[in-house]
Amino acid sequence: MTAPPILKIDHVGHAYGTFQVINDISLEVPAGELTALIGPNGAGKTTFYNLVSGRFPPTRGRIWFAGREITGMPAHRLVPRGLLRSFQITNIFPDLTVTENVLVPLLLHHRRGFSFLRPLRSERELYRLAAETLEQVGLGRYAHRTASELAYGDKRLLEIAIVLSREPKLVLLDEPTAGMNREETARMIRLIKELADRFGTTFFLTEHDMNVVFSVAARIFVLHQGGLLAAGTPAEIQADVRVREAYLGGTFGD
Ligand SMILES: Nc1ncnc2c1ncn2[C@@H]1O[C@H](COP(=O)(O)OP(=O)(O)O)[C@@H](O)[C@H]1O
Ligand SMILES: [Mg+2]
Repeated sequence: MTAPPILKIDHVGHAYGTFQVINDISLEVPAGELTALIGPNGAGKTTFYNLVSGRFPPTRGRIWFAGREITGMPAHRLVPRGLLRSFQITNIFPDLTVTENVLVPLLLHHRRGFSFLRPLRSERELYRLAAETLEQVGLGRYAHRTASELAYGDKRLLEIAIVLSREPKLVLLDEPTAGMNREETARMIRLIKELADRFGTTFFLTEHDMNVVFSVAARIFVLHQGGLLAAGTPAEIQADVRVREAYLGGTFGD
């Protein structure tokens, strides 16, 4: 028997007023697979992530996460269940140290009131977890720096550490490499791939660099004008004529 998908989208649509932005999308994201959502600017990628992460409910259709229906469930109820969206840089506390930035969500995660399932953890243990998480994203050596001193790319890595500290099952990353140079992009994507392989966390990301997408994603969904144009492996997507046509010029950097 195959494992149930971590995310199941069933005929989801969304309109801003009368403007239909997401148009009858159905798809499944298998657990543990690094999955990418691609599509030209304005295709509806960010809107789609907003629907899944509980920013606002879809105007039609249903959404399941880890086998349970979550349609319309707000973000604050999805986070403890393990569905997270990458935080924006503005959510980093600039005046706290790098370690403290990870400790805050760790405290929230492990010391929440009425958490019968999770035993309270000692302060020392939380510090150790914070240090471990920072090591995992390669920020160990900056642990005692003030967050505002970090380079842009390192701030994005800190964001990932903050997300990881909540022990997510599914992480939605909307353009995790936006504004990064080539080297930072490569480092970020390598890290995401490594974390996905090591922890079995499912990452569902958008990325505009097609070479990056084709080299790391196990599965790709192509969004075009709010509809699902194609789904498949990198090889299948690369060979898809409709996908090539949707991207003006019809090439993927080849
Ligand atoms: N809050 C909003 N109200 C009205 N239209 C919006 C809103 N947010 C996005 N849109 C429109 O929805 C379409 C899809 O946008 P978006 O989801 O941001 O696409 P992408 O992330 O793929 O670039 C665009 O035409 C955009 O202008
Ligand atoms: Mg977007």
